[in-house]
Amino acid sequence: MSKQNAIVMVLIISAMVPQIQSVNLKAGNWGTSLETKNNETVTNLQFYFHDTLSGKNPSAIKVAEPIDKSKSFSTLFCNIMMADDPLTETSDPNSKLVGRAQGLYGSSCQEEFGLLMALSYSFVDGPYNGSSFTVVGKNSIMNPVREMAVVGGTGLFRMARGYAIAQTHWFDNSGDAIVGYNVTLVH
Ligand SMILES: *[C@@H]1O[C@H](CO)[C@@H](O)[C@H](O)[C@H]1NC(C)=O
Ligand SMILES: *[C@@H]1O[C@H](CO)[C@@H](O)[C@H](O)[C@H]1NC(C)=O
Ligand SMILES: *[C@@H]1O[C@H](CO)[C@@H](O)[C@H](O)[C@H]1NC(C)=O
Repeated sequence: MSKQNAIVMVLIISAMVPQIQSVNLKAGNWGTSLETKNNETVTNLQFYFHDTLSGKNPSAIKVAEPIDKSKSFSTLFCNIMMADDPLTETSDPNSKLVGRAQGLYGSSCQEEFGLLMALSYSFVDGPYNGSSFTVVGKNSIMNPVREMAVVGGTGLFRMARGYAIAQTHWFDNSGDAIVGYNVTLVH
C-alpha cells in the first residue's frame, strides 16, 4: 500500500469510529466533568462553604438542644442547627457565588466535636446551575481534613455517588467557619 493510500485508510477508519458524545464540562475554576470509557461522568468540584453563626445575619441557626439542661455536653451533643450557607468559588466570601448548602447539621457525638451532616448542596453557576447533590455523614470538625459521603444527586448529578473532602480554611471563637470542599462525583 502506498503512503498516500495508507493515509486515506486511516482517515476512513477514524471517520467510522463513532464519536463519543462529549459531556466534558467546565465551570470557572471550580468544576470539571469528564466522561469515562464506561459512559459514566466524573465531576470534580472545588468550592468554599461559609458557615456564619455570629452577627445579625447568621447563615446557620440553632433549632434544637436538650430540653433537660442537666444533659448538657461540652461537645454540644444534641444541638441541631439549620443552615443555608453560601458556597463560593474562592475562600473570599465576596467571590462568585456558585451554590448553597441547605439543611441540618447537629452534634451527634458525646466525646468529640462531631456533626452529622444532612445537607443538599445545590449549584447556580455554569453547567451545574440547577443541579444538586446530597451529603449525609459524620463530620469530625476538629480534624483538619475529613471525608463525607455523597449519597445522591439531581439534575446533571442524578444518580451520583461520591465523596466530599472538607478542610477547615478558617474559623473563629464564635463558631464561624470557612471550609474548603473537594468533591468527586460519579454519575
Ligand atoms: C456506552 O454507550 C454507547 C451508546 O449508548 C453504547 O453503545 C456502549 O455499549 C456503552 N458502553 C458501555 C461500556 O456501557
Ligand atoms: C440559572 O438558572 C436559572 C433558572 O433557569 C436562571 O434564571 C439563571 O439565570 C441561571 N444562572 C446562571 C448563572 O446561569
Ligand atoms: C482541593 O484539594 C487540593 C489538593 O489537596 C488542594 O490544593 C485544594 O486547596 C483543595 N481545594 C479546596 C477548596 O479545599
